[in-house]
Amino acid sequence: MSVNIHRTLLCLFGVVMFSLITESACPFGTFGTMCQFRCHCKEPLDCDKNTGNCESGCTGQWSGRNCQQENVSFNASTSHKVGTGSTKSWYGVDGNISTCAITTAGVNGWWMVKFDKPHTIHTIYLNAGTNTSLFDWQIKVGDDGNLFTMVICSEIESHGSSASVFCDRPQRGQYLSVLNRHGPVVICDLSVYICSKYSFGPGCERQCSCKEPNEQCDIQTGACSSGCQTGRQGVDCQIECLGSYGPGCSYSCGHCLNGTSCDSMSGFCPMNKCDPGWEGRTCHRECKVGFYGYKCYNRCGHCSDNLMCHHVNGSCPNGCQAGWNGKTCMEKCNTTHFGKDCLQPCGNCFDGSCDKETGECTSGCKPGLQGDRCDTECSPGRWGLRCGELCGHCRKKGCGLVNGSCNSGCASGWTGVKCLEECPRGLFGMNCTEMCGKCKGAVCNATDGRCLHGCMDGFTGENCTPLISAAPVFEEETTNTLQVFLGVSVTVVISVMVCLIFCLVSNWRREDISKYDRQLVVDDKDIRLEETRHLNCNGDLRS
Ligand SMILES: *[C@@H]1O[C@H](CO)[C@@H](O)[C@H](O)[C@H]1NC(C)=O
Ligand SMILES: *[C@@H]1O[C@H](CO)[C@@H](O)[C@H](O)[C@H]1NC(C)=O
Ligand SMILES: *[C@@H]1O[C@H](CO)[C@@H](O)[C@H](O)[C@H]1NC(C)=O
Ligand SMILES: *[C@@H]1O[C@H](CO)[C@@H](O)[C@H](O)[C@H]1NC(C)=O
Ligand SMILES: *[C@@H]1O[C@H](CO)[C@@H](O)[C@H](O)[C@H]1NC(C)=O
Ligand SMILES: *[C@@H]1O[C@H](CO)[C@@H](O)[C@H](O)[C@H]1NC(C)=O
Ligand SMILES: *[C@@H]1O[C@H](CO)[C@@H](O)[C@H](O)[C@H]1NC(C)=O
Ligand SMILES: *[C@@H]1O[C@H](CO)[C@@H](O)[C@H](O)[C@H]1NC(C)=O
Ligand SMILES: *[C@@H]1O[C@H](CO)[C@@H](O)[C@H](O)[C@H]1NC(C)=O
Ligand SMILES: *[C@@H]1O[C@H](CO)[C@@H](O)[C@H](O)[C@H]1NC(C)=O
Repeated sequence: MSVNIHRTLLCLFGVVMFSLITESACPFGTFGTMCQFRCHCKEPLDCDKNTGNCESGCTGQWSGRNCQQENVSFNASTSHKVGTGSTKSWYGVDGNISTCAITTAGVNGWWMVKFDKPHTIHTIYLNAGTNTSLFDWQIKVGDDGNLFTMVICSEIESHGSSASVFCDRPQRGQYLSVLNRHGPVVICDLSVYICSKYSFGPGCERQCSCKEPNEQCDIQTGACSSGCQTGRQGVDCQIECLGSYGPGCSYSCGHCLNGTSCDSMSGFCPMNKCDPGWEGRTCHRECKVGFYGYKCYNRCGHCSDNLMCHHVNGSCPNGCQAGWNGKTCMEKCNTTHFGKDCLQPCGNCFDGSCDKETGECTSGCKPGLQGDRCDTECSPGRWGLRCGELCGHCRKKGCGLVNGSCNSGCASGWTGVKCLEECPRGLFGMNCTEMCGKCKGAVCNATDGRCLHGCMDGFTGENCTPLISAAPVFEEETTNTLQVFLGVSVTVVISVMVCLIFCLVSNWRREDISKYDRQLVVDDKDIRLEETRHLNCNGDLRS
């Protein structure tokens, strides 16, 4: 009991579910693109909702794969020429091949069938038994049973005893007649098939696709006088637009993903998927300005000149804005480069990295350089970090930018790598090689050797050189002026004498001196000094 109830409930549930599911396509018992067809399956649930195909076979007099071809002659009323040798006219439509309708023997015959209502004839299947040729027989169709006014559907030209016949042009009428101009008509079986409304073709298996939805297309060719339905083309309007859509397939599909074809009627792309760079249901629209790529998901990068990127691949027409590079200008410059497309190398920044847009060295410059990008040397006379150091007293203006060293040597009176130290006390001149004269306080101007506080007693001139000598005085000056006077006098006298002697000697051996001089230079510094003085006639007695 309960099992049966369960089964019934389950079955009901199944039916409800099924109808719910199929409802979304076509109402139960119908099918087709516009649900314009009735199902004629033996099992109603069999009916394919798109094609109407039945696996269980067709009901009643319906046939064909989707049961849209109807046998309208079966059991219809018949008549024929009655006379000697004639049989029952309905033997032609009784479905029994061994009973034949035969007209009066020996004379031209006719046979006629009347349908329940007018039909457009699709196919006539005729079997006249094994002993009769159908050659030159006629089939006519008309709205009444008048043999003379009925219109010829077809004239049979084959010699066989059976034939499938199509009207030369579609014919509509309630009566169909068969005539033989050479003898009696014999019909063992005759079937007349029509197509259900809006179907056509062999077996009535195709669906009309006319622009005018109520037009019945040509049941043989499918041609429509109103033209094809939107999205279809071809004589029979069965070819879906490919790569195009709309009435007459006259609109091109948009950029559907991977070149797929759009819906032939609406132009919509399958699953609304467009190729990169396109959007909209028909994929006709480029991405909104500033976006690109698949589904226009990606924002443009940093294009130069405020331009927007290519809507498909995101590339910037004029390259990237300062500070950016990469195919889509989404990558920042690395630390060592800056500017449009990151093509410019940073200047001599302190830590090597610069502002990605301007190239400005945010960390300051390496020593010896200045400017926003640190590409300018310190102005002459300056060096070091931020050009904050002043060059020393170099011989030529400017010094080593990094270490401040005077590569040209020092100016007169200065010494040291950077020429920041004055000559040692008592020395002056270039390279501090000259000795001060007999200055008071033993100090002379390091540059030009002039005595700053006048001369020691007994010496005159700016450099306080004696008449014959400018020997430096290293010992402390004594306070006893007499002593000094005596010492100076003696020194002067002796110096004059020595000078005279030497001058005489040197004159005497002038040719040899230069040679002797060079030799001495190589041997010993002290001797060199002495020798120089000889040449100047300024020899120092004390050396
Ligand atoms: C044929 O027609 C007769 C009446 O004309 C009817 O009684 C009979 O049921 C029909 N047969 C079929 C199979 O339709
Ligand atoms: C169609 O009807 C004819 C009688 O007109 C009959 O002989 C034939 O078998 C029928 N065909 C089908 C497929 O039912
Ligand atoms: C067809 O007709 C013949 C002759 O009348 C008969 O013997 C036979 O049983 C019929 N067949 C059918 C299927 O009715
Ligand atoms: C056909 O003709 C042969 C002899 O000519 C005859 O025996 C046979 O019965 C005929 N068949 C029919 C259906 O008339
Ligand atoms: C599109 O085509 C490419 C190659 O032809 C393939 O790799 C890709 O998976 C396709 N995309 C889709 C969504 O079918
Ligand atoms: C992007 O597409 C444009 C136009 O088709 C083309 O000119 C450009 O070379 C492409 N850029 C890249 C990086 O593929
Ligand atoms: C930095 O980028 C430039 C181009 O913009 C490139 O030539 C250079 O090799 C890159 N340097 C490093 C370290 O990646
Ligand atoms: C100072 O730098 C220069 C190069 O600019 C170099 O030739 C010189 O040897 C350096 N001097 C010192 C003392 O480091
Ligand atoms: C100073 O010294 C440099 C190198 O030490 C030398 O080239 C130059 O000739 C010297 N100048 C003088 C006036 O001695
Ligand atoms: C040394 O002499 C130079 C020029 O000969 C002069 O410019 C400088 O001021 C002098 N120095 C001193 C300390 O007098």
